[in-house]
Amino acid sequence: MPLILGLETSCDETAAAVVEDGWLVRSNIIASQHALHECYGGVVPEIASRAHLERLSPVVHEAVATTGISLADIDAIAVGNRPGLIGSLLVGVSAAKALAWSLGKPLIGVDHVKAHLYASQLQPADGVAANPKSEIRAPKFPCLGLVVSGGHTSLYAVASSTQMHLLGKTIDDAVGEAYDKAAVILRMGYPGGPKLDRLAQTGDASAHDLPRSLLAKDSLNFSYSGLKTALLYKVRGQPQERGGKTHFQRDASDLTDTQRANLAAAFQAAAIDTLIIKLDRALDAMITAGQPARAVLIGGGVSANSLLRRRAVELAARRSIPLGLPAMAYCLDNAAMIAGLAYQYHTQGRHDDLTLPAIATTSC
Ligand code: KG4
Ligand code: ZN
Repeated sequence: MPLILGLETSCDETAAAVVEDGWLVRSNIIASQHALHECYGGVVPEIASRAHLERLSPVVHEAVATTGISLADIDAIAVGNRPGLIGSLLVGVSAAKALAWSLGKPLIGVDHVKAHLYASQLQPADGVAANPKSEIRAPKFPCLGLVVSGGHTSLYAVASSTQMHLLGKTIDDAVGEAYDKAAVILRMGYPGGPKLDRLAQTGDASAHDLPRSLLAKDSLNFSYSGLKTALLYKVRGQPQERGGKTHFQRDASDLTDTQRANLAAAFQAAAIDTLIIKLDRALDAMITAGQPARAVLIGGGVSANSLLRRRAVELAARRSIPLGLPAMAYCLDNAAMIAGLAYQYHTQGRHDDLTLPAIATTSC
């Protein structure tokens, strides 16, 4: 029963976790940097990497100490080495190398995007009694995978936990990025996704008809910039050019609470509708290709979204297909998903050496 220590520092969460056998989460510690970046309305890379440097050591110690084991009991050290902010990734990768070298343990680099798709297989150690045999703990492949985060909106034909083929992706904004920008337009603060989701639940989505960008008839790509601009014009009115400058008629502070909630609900309905329509298209495309999906796996920060979760459950029931949705604790960036996926490489004897690079882009 291998124990893997995972580290995650790709963006603005400093995280460490201990996972047993690739699924049982013994600890999952996350130090969020949201308070540091809030006043800038987004992540400032240099502030993020410095904060990782200060926080990683205590976070690793807490992740190990809360399991009641010592570092010597760990079987391998895993780290998210791609994709992400390069300075932030370097902190985690350097720390993982130092730990692996000093403890004489194998080192395993993990792609953060693949790890998001693995997250639905994780269960907290104290939750096992409540849910001992999740059908999704060992999904049957091939699966259809959807990664929805601040940086990615991508569909994959998933051949195994470590091998996937890109079917389609966003041609402009990622859906999480669109949520964050929509929250700025509605003056809701950072990070906007969870706040907009909460407000949307109190509004009436039918109050506004916002566009669903479906692109070409069979396209599996996404586009979110049109939805964002449509929301901007609903909130601020049509822009007018005067003296070489763009002027808007009003802004979000002129809206009543009900108007803001209705706009949030209409945005959420359009954003999530698009994801569900493309999931349906991709399931059909895999059938046409003679490789029907045997499960749908969803991961990434937006998999925490209340409407996506509800509509994904409906889709899975309608298409009679098992659905892997991460527990809420494993939707947003975390190190348990890194340690979990690393177990698959570990059992195949696929380890990295101390030349493991930090890479800004995903491998899939
Ligand atoms: O996976 P993640 O933690 O980081 C990246 O890899 O990007 O995803 C963060 C993104 C942010 O854009 C955040 O606003 C969005 O996920 N997000 C949500 C919700 N919770 C987080 N978007 C919509 N609804 C939510 N409940
Ligand atoms: Zn992520």
